[in-house]
Amino acid sequence: MNGLTPEQTTGFAPMDATHAQFLALLGTAQAADDAALPEAFAALVEHTRHHFDDEAKLMRACRFSAVGEHENEHRRVLGEMTHFLLKLKQGRRAAARAWLAEGAVDWFRSHLATLDSAPAAQCRQAGLPESA
Ligand SMILES: [Fe+2]
Ligand SMILES: [Fe+2]
Repeated sequence: MNGLTPEQTTGFAPMDATHAQFLALLGTAQAADDAALPEAFAALVEHTRHHFDDEAKLMRACRFSAVGEHENEHRRVLGEMTHFLLKLKQGRRAAARAWLAEGAVDWFRSHLATLDSAPAAQCRQAGLPESA
């Protein structure tokens, strides 16, 4: 079990595994004290970079058509996260804390529903391997 709720589950195992890792790293960053926050946030950014790269490869592998819109949204949120990380490195935590508490949670929920669910279903139907 990966700990995802039914609403968080796309049904395509590789994406679900990545999403479970995202939520775990998000939880670690949310719970981090001020001293630990920059490192925890950096780990979340690094994981997200791989998450998005892997999803882009999957969308191409299963010939999903609406790749551009999805990748634009990935770029937008990664840019936002990189900005927060830069602020954290300057000792400014408020924006990152606010995003972790609300923005990230809302973003993840809506991203799954509006952008990740369709390629996940298509990759599954296309018979892409679900285990490493
Ligand atoms: Fe995703
Ligand atoms: Fe995505």
